[in-house]
Amino acid sequence: MTSTIKEKVEQLRETIRYHDRKYYVENNPEITDYEYDQLLKELRHLEKLHHELITPDSPTQRVGGEPLTQFPTVEHKLPMLSIDNTYSDEELKEFDHRIKRMAEIDAHKDIEYVVELKIDGVAIALWYENGLFVRGATRGDGFKGDDVTANLRTIHQIPLKLETSAKKQKIPSILEIRGEIYLPNKEFQRLNEEREETGELQFANPRNAAAGSLKLLDPRITAKRHLCIFTYAIGYLEGMDFKTHMQCLNFIRGFGLPVNPHTRLCKNVEEVIRYCSEWDKRRRELDYMVDGMVVKVNSLALHDQLGATSKSPRWVISYKFQPEQAVTKIEQIVVQVGKTGTLTPVANLTPVLLAGTTVSRATLHNFDEIHRKDIRVGDHVVLQKAGEIIPQVVTVLKEKRKGTETPFTEPSICPECKEKVVRDDTEVYLRCHNPFCQAQVKRRIQYFASRDAMDIEGLGPALVEQLVDKGFLKDYSDIYNLKYGDLVNLERMGEKSSSNLIHAIEESKKRDLDRLICALGIHNVGSHTAEVLAEHYDSLDELAKATQVELEGIYEIGPVVAKSIVDFFQNKHTQVLIEKLKADCVNTKKLATQKTAKNRKFFGKSFVITGTLKKYSRKEAETLIKYLGGRVISSVSKKTDYLVVGEDPGSKLDKAKEFNVHILDEEALEKMTLD
Ligand code: IVH
Repeated sequence: MTSTIKEKVEQLRETIRYHDRKYYVENNPEITDYEYDQLLKELRHLEKLHHELITPDSPTQRVGGEPLTQFPTVEHKLPMLSIDNTYSDEELKEFDHRIKRMAEIDAHKDIEYVVELKIDGVAIALWYENGLFVRGATRGDGFKGDDVTANLRTIHQIPLKLETSAKKQKIPSILEIRGEIYLPNKEFQRLNEEREETGELQFANPRNAAAGSLKLLDPRITAKRHLCIFTYAIGYLEGMDFKTHMQCLNFIRGFGLPVNPHTRLCKNVEEVIRYCSEWDKRRRELDYMVDGMVVKVNSLALHDQLGATSKSPRWVISYKFQPEQAVTKIEQIVVQVGKTGTLTPVANLTPVLLAGTTVSRATLHNFDEIHRKDIRVGDHVVLQKAGEIIPQVVTVLKEKRKGTETPFTEPSICPECKEKVVRDDTEVYLRCHNPFCQAQVKRRIQYFASRDAMDIEGLGPALVEQLVDKGFLKDYSDIYNLKYGDLVNLERMGEKSSSNLIHAIEESKKRDLDRLICALGIHNVGSHTAEVLAEHYDSLDELAKATQVELEGIYEIGPVVAKSIVDFFQNKHTQVLIEKLKADCVNTKKLATQKTAKNRKFFGKSFVITGTLKKYSRKEAETLIKYLGGRVISSVSKKTDYLVVGEDPGSKLDKAKEFNVHILDEEALEKMTLD
């Protein structure tokens, strides 16, 4: 290996880290996405040729390969305490008095506070050793949390390696940083729309969505959620001292970790109160949820003096915002039908202003919810958007009932096609099973054309609605028979938009196999599962022939998904659709660019690693195996193919012998990779 390649790799990594910081943290990119992708591509290429150069902190190593089976438990070096809440200006003044009393400070003197936004997300601790991100954990019970490192690595705002900004600051040997993981509102909405399409349960609010995303065992899915972070404290630090909390925040910011820009130093409690009430009004300007403010004493000497109770430190308090609520009337309850036939009840409301927007509709989620809350048409209800962007019915004001309100009866037939509906396996949803149901047809066509699927620009929901109503489209295969003349006379369509759309439809015929699989709208198969399937099958025909057993053998495909796939392809209606797509020259084969797991050397093989390896770090060995198509799992079972043994192996070696698992030392593994 020439040292110039190593240098080139290091140089590329540094450049990418620099641009990551510009893009993800400072919101101030200096290069285009294309230029950035080229840098990453070049690095990937060099690492492919020289796996020995792959290091865990390389920007290519953010998304790990295989899912975990569970999260290991981590004990926090110092407990992650919670914060006491206050709800009024008076309580904030009491907090200030209490501190002065306890620290024996003159009541007329001012105490400096740092006031931060209280991000409504999930608390985590990031552990860095000599500048490398080695572990990240959730708060858990405050003493022990879950090791969610693999998921945290997918967050681009978290540096895998700490680098200092212009004025060089020392990298501490140990540094634990605490912060909050959150999902921006836009991402939350996108995720819920996607889940509605695939018939999955929606998240009630961005916090739940962030928590759920952090607890996914497969980091590849987490990576698609685009989680973000704000850091707000040092949990543990060796070899350095600061005088104020503000200095701590500047120190963290110096390493390129995001610190909320609306953090303010206030010189006394009056300023604190003013700043809190300013944000109570302004919080809707933000693209993330905040549920209050956090007020922290600035002097660290005072922190030591004040100490903590068993629950929370005495130098910090939160000021919680009142959730905004509004009362309105339920005019009507309508039932919507989704792409896979799921029925969702939605309330049409007398329009009311709530948290900055006029609300006239609220989802009631499912029919059980209507029963549980006893929601009736004509009822006055309390709406709330506090932790939620989507308005929710909190309670029914039963005292306002006049007796004319009518209970809602669960539909027994589909509101669109009048076919009988049935409760699905989850027991929560009602579903219409008629594949020709107009509502489902529309949703399916919309999904087929959407960005993650065939990406037909210009074929949005409103146009699909018109095309189905006018009889131009009966299913998604009809898209390929649309003519310019069909489009140009439609509402809101002109010559340019019509010819653009015809061009976009033509272009979509060349999409790769994974997109087509996704677009078909197979129940339980979203874009990620479609990618997995396209890794294993070279064409749609091959996939259509796959048996339930064969599909279940694919990593990540469980029995429910496998059954959905088999059912889909056995359906006569589906078979006709696919033949029509083929006749219209829609590509149904894998293009050369798509990854083929099968061609990789370790495809289908599972590995367990035990003991300390000499030549590779454990992460490097894992990366190597996964790169060659293998899976790395944590425990030995009968199904394990290979055990890689380093020095001081644990009990896994005995187990492997018992199950007759092939045992490899480091050299044998290396030889296999080179053969
Ligand atoms: S400081 C001991 N600062 O709020 C103090 N917490 O209700 C450590 N939170 O568990 C936390 N924004 O998850 C702090 N700017 C902020 C925060 C914040 C959100 C969360 C954090 C904490 C919870 C307490």
